[in-house]
Amino acid sequence: MNTYTEQINQAVAHYRELLEGQLARVERINAAGEAVDYSKMEKIVIGVCGGDGIGPTITAETARVLEYLLADEVKKGRIEFRTIEGLTIENRVAQMKAIPDDVLAELKACDVILKGPTTTPKQGDGLPNIESANVAMRKELDLFANVRPVRVPDKGIDWTFFRENTEGSYAVGSLGSNVTDDLAIDFCVTTTEGTNRIAKLAYEYARANKKERVSIVTKANVIKTTDGKFLNLCLEVGKDYPEITTDEWFIDIMTAKLVDEKRRRDFKVFILPNLYGDIITDEAAEFQGGVGTAGSANIGKRYAMFEAIHGSAPRMVKEGRAKYADPCSMLRAGVMLLNHIGYNEEASKLERALDICMFEDKRLTITGRDTGATCREFADYVSETLKGL
Ligand code: IPM
Ligand code: MG
Repeated sequence: MNTYTEQINQAVAHYRELLEGQLARVERINAAGEAVDYSKMEKIVIGVCGGDGIGPTITAETARVLEYLLADEVKKGRIEFRTIEGLTIENRVAQMKAIPDDVLAELKACDVILKGPTTTPKQGDGLPNIESANVAMRKELDLFANVRPVRVPDKGIDWTFFRENTEGSYAVGSLGSNVTDDLAIDFCVTTTEGTNRIAKLAYEYARANKKERVSIVTKANVIKTTDGKFLNLCLEVGKDYPEITTDEWFIDIMTAKLVDEKRRRDFKVFILPNLYGDIITDEAAEFQGGVGTAGSANIGKRYAMFEAIHGSAPRMVKEGRAKYADPCSMLRAGVMLLNHIGYNEEASKLERALDICMFEDKRLTITGRDTGATCREFADYVSETLKGL
């Protein structure tokens, strides 16, 4: 045969394992029941997980604002805030796990989670090759939809991104194979139910919120099999929503169109595979004032997790600037959390307070350094504003 027989056999054995794992996942998601109905739950447990870097600072301040808003519910016993320690890079490295088992068990005992950013090991940083805690949590709790709103009212921007959150290039992102020293292969995964469920969530959102357009964004002209399947399934789901205009875009031109001031106002709701959704939501957040201002909801049928869209900003911590971190991303995530568990009035109040503090009154600004307010001062400013509403 050829000189690579052994390497090919090894790679094929690895591929077989991946296939078995993914087929088992398909079975699991096909068997998943209906989404939980929070209105029927006697008690909702909110897990608060600080994470790494600036995470503990912005998470603690956000939890404080949420505790203020939900104080009566906590008294009544309907809501419990529960601190979860141990989702730190130090503990994850010590246990060589993306999420240590005891932490995962604690997460699973909650209903929704407020999570600070976590450090993701990358090649060359001296950390072991453990999977990102974010990615692992999305998979473990099957948080299939990553919903990321971006609004810039004075520019007419009102976008909601529905990023598929457990599949695509992330499904086995840490399990690619170095077939030989010269050949590396990664894998991209699309499943039928994995696509249908994100597409339905996006269209249902569009219908409920009277958004007239849904844009499906892929690179199906090149990534023909997985993106092609994703696109076709989304188009199929879209047929059940005749009042909504569906259009299809390729990710490269969509990236350009987001900076086209004449066209971008037309977009409302986007559905994208995982990696494109990751990339384009950072770009989109930049129009709103940067990733520090953008919240993100990770929604599954049983669990949901709310976080900032940005990372743990280790440089800010190294330079002693953690206390100047911007809590707005987490506070926006807090708005999404409140809405998700049915506290819509509280959510609207918090959203209104944030709009006042960030765009209208602007008595305090966050600059990320000592030229601006601290995270705590800004959270106090938001709380004070809330009291006046
Ligand atoms: C995000 C982040 C994560 C991702 C990283 C930290 C793994 O960039 O939530 O967008 O790529 O999904
Ligand atoms: Mg990202």
